[in-house]
Amino acid sequence: MNVLIVGSGGREHALAWKIAQSPRVERVFVAPGNAGTAADAENVDISTDDFPALIKFAQENEVGLTVVGPEAPLAAGIVDVFQDAGLRVFGPNAAAAELEGSKVFCKDLLRDADVASGEYQTFEDVDEAVMFLEEREDVPVVVKADGLAAGKGVIVCSCRDEALAAVEKIARQKAYGDAGNRILIEERLDGQEASVLAITDGQTLVMLQPAQDHKPAYDGDTGPNTGGMGAYCPAPLMDDEMLHWVEEKVLVPTIHAMKRARRPFSGVLYAGLMITNQGPKVLEYNVRFGDPECQPLLFRLKTDLVDVLEATVDGRLDQLDPLEWDPRPSVCVVMASEGYPNSYEKGRPIRGLDEAAKLADTKVFHAGTGLLNGQVVNTGGRVLNVTAMGDNIARAKLAAYTAVKCIRWDGAWCRKDISDKALF
Ligand code: AMP
Ligand code: GLY
Repeated sequence: MNVLIVGSGGREHALAWKIAQSPRVERVFVAPGNAGTAADAENVDISTDDFPALIKFAQENEVGLTVVGPEAPLAAGIVDVFQDAGLRVFGPNAAAAELEGSKVFCKDLLRDADVASGEYQTFEDVDEAVMFLEEREDVPVVVKADGLAAGKGVIVCSCRDEALAAVEKIARQKAYGDAGNRILIEERLDGQEASVLAITDGQTLVMLQPAQDHKPAYDGDTGPNTGGMGAYCPAPLMDDEMLHWVEEKVLVPTIHAMKRARRPFSGVLYAGLMITNQGPKVLEYNVRFGDPECQPLLFRLKTDLVDVLEATVDGRLDQLDPLEWDPRPSVCVVMASEGYPNSYEKGRPIRGLDEAAKLADTKVFHAGTGLLNGQVVNTGGRVLNVTAMGDNIARAKLAAYTAVKCIRWDGAWCRKDISDKALF
């Protein structure tokens, strides 16, 4: 069977790398891919929003399974059009992808399903939102654009003035476009964050190991928010008992609520959780593998991922054997371009990848890379996802940073403290 992966980041490289290991897979295509997927699979020059071209490619190249990485094509209905064309595709349809595509839909569903999450109010009228903030006590809140904003439409505020500025930016100036037509003002929760991902066919849940992302740009969780500067897995703050609680009290009720809403969910259900003093509360749902969480997760997965993805698409996850994991933890360090998360220069040659490739238990997944005259160059803000395993977290961290040291380009940087939260 041939497999098509839609997307071009580190998550898609990890998916391509893992899927290519399946004995049942002949060719792995990635559309549009990056320099890393070009080496481990075959790139196809079709963008993630050109559904007709993707369908045509799948039909002409005996693609037996398509796996969609990012949220935008899912929310735009790529699964619906593939299914209409009779093609097998992994991911939720547009109706189910609303769980990520609309934060208002998500919060309302969580409330109906009685799942723990922060208090919130929804506004369509900017003046009403302003009045709400001015009339209530000056407490920390989070202002969120309802729609997809490439991970940027969330502003965490410590006081009323910041919240008012956030409402202006999102809802009046429309800094994230139509995503800000509706906004949420949400109670700010305190604690550590954890990512719990599960794969579901709408009936059966298969839990993945808990992971932790590092969203702020700089060490010690300081600086601006990013798409994620590193991740590790498993995250010890989420012990087995808590993970079981999340499955029973968060994920299962969500799956049932989606069914009741006539939006049965199939694909990756990813709960972004805040571990508060009162226990885990849902910050948001994503409807896809996390990036970068996917990289350290798949690095440890021993089970053939294609078996899991196919069982999901075919609605027979209940027949799947339990997942097998490498017991060793993994750490993924994101190497970024100078200037990220703001503007940065592209096209800088990257050196040392061959040296890093020789290290045991290490894999450099590519995120924002491309080929320019045969040379690997940076094309994005998050450039490489250096992933390694070790006998314990400290050793996995050391292994990842040993590989990082092999790699050089002008302006390359990374956080130096990925996984430290697991050690204290
Ligand atoms: P989201 O896109 O909803 O995951 O939000 C992005 C980030 O904003 C999260 O990873 C949290 O760090 C932060 N965040 C979102 N909602 C809240 C909340 N209610 N309280 C505190 N932080 C939040
Ligand atoms: N790691 C955060 C995300 O994938 O949204």
